[in-house]
Amino acid sequence: MSPAASPPVLELQGGFTGYGDSVVVNDVSISVGQGEVVCLLGANGAGKTTLMRAITGLLPLMQGRLVFRGEDISKMPAHDRVRAGICLSPEGRQVFPELTVMENLVLGGFNKRAREFRQRNLDRVFDLFPRLSERKTQAAGLMSGGEQQMLAIARALMGEPKLLALDEPSLGLAPKIVLTVFDAIKTIAQSGITILLVEQNTRAALTVAERGYVLSAGKIVHEGSARELMQSEMIQKAFIGAIYDGDKKRVTRRERRLAALAGKADHA
Ligand SMILES: Nc1ncnc2c1ncn2[C@@H]1O[C@H](COP(=O)(O)OP(=O)(O)OP(=O)(O)O)[C@@H](O)[C@H]1O
Ligand SMILES: [Mg+2]
Repeated sequence: MSPAASPPVLELQGGFTGYGDSVVVNDVSISVGQGEVVCLLGANGAGKTTLMRAITGLLPLMQGRLVFRGEDISKMPAHDRVRAGICLSPEGRQVFPELTVMENLVLGGFNKRAREFRQRNLDRVFDLFPRLSERKTQAAGLMSGGEQQMLAIARALMGEPKLLALDEPSLGLAPKIVLTVFDAIKTIAQSGITILLVEQNTRAALTVAERGYVLSAGKIVHEGSARELMQSEMIQKAFIGAIYDGDKKRVTRRERRLAALAGKADHA
């Protein structure tokens, strides 16, 4: 769906944020339309996670305006944003290691709005990630990196998101698991959930996203459709080449698989 077709679910206008006196996100404006999957690309340290923190309320905006479903939430505390429907799967998963898979999931669905949908959402996440269903009673900290990533996404889904914010779901995962995780993200997108996806794995992100922004040193330096970004020479040089150089055999196999995914995800 094009962002112009309905009012955006999320709109950040002229956002500045950072730590102490240090401005990290510098005059950023982005929007995410209803049902869209929008990705935010950028190298290490570009400010992607910092921007996610400002959107989810973990960091205050120094300047700018954040509107969510028509409401100015610039000053809304993080827990109220969860209740409003902004649910984050954070960078580095951050599951509760001592708690079981089930307990992590229940906590994800604890907000007042989501509580009544707990059973339905449990069924959905177990359907999406059967591995979690098999490991319900296992301590989350004993799961593999890929399983913990599935749990982090599932926990965010338990919050009944109106905007699912995913910060680097591919981080540190083996290529095969990245594909599993991205297949799941695509299924989530197809169910109509609006997604803001932060990724360094540009090619994987562009297989599921319809549009994207490129952040560099805290500023948006490029934006466009997934197709435009995929074909952009700047992106090819800055990200895709860098990630994929040096392992041609794997590149070929991965590219074939990702191209197949991209075909399924083609919204143009
Ligand atoms: N808690 C913090 N306190 C101070 N500076 C921070 C903090 N977190 C991040 N920064 C700085 O903010 C800048 C942007 O970091 P951020 O984590 O947002 O980047 P990123 O784009 O998410 O990078 P990556 O791809 O490595 O996750 C970096 O210069 C980083 O050192
Ligand atoms: Mg980050």
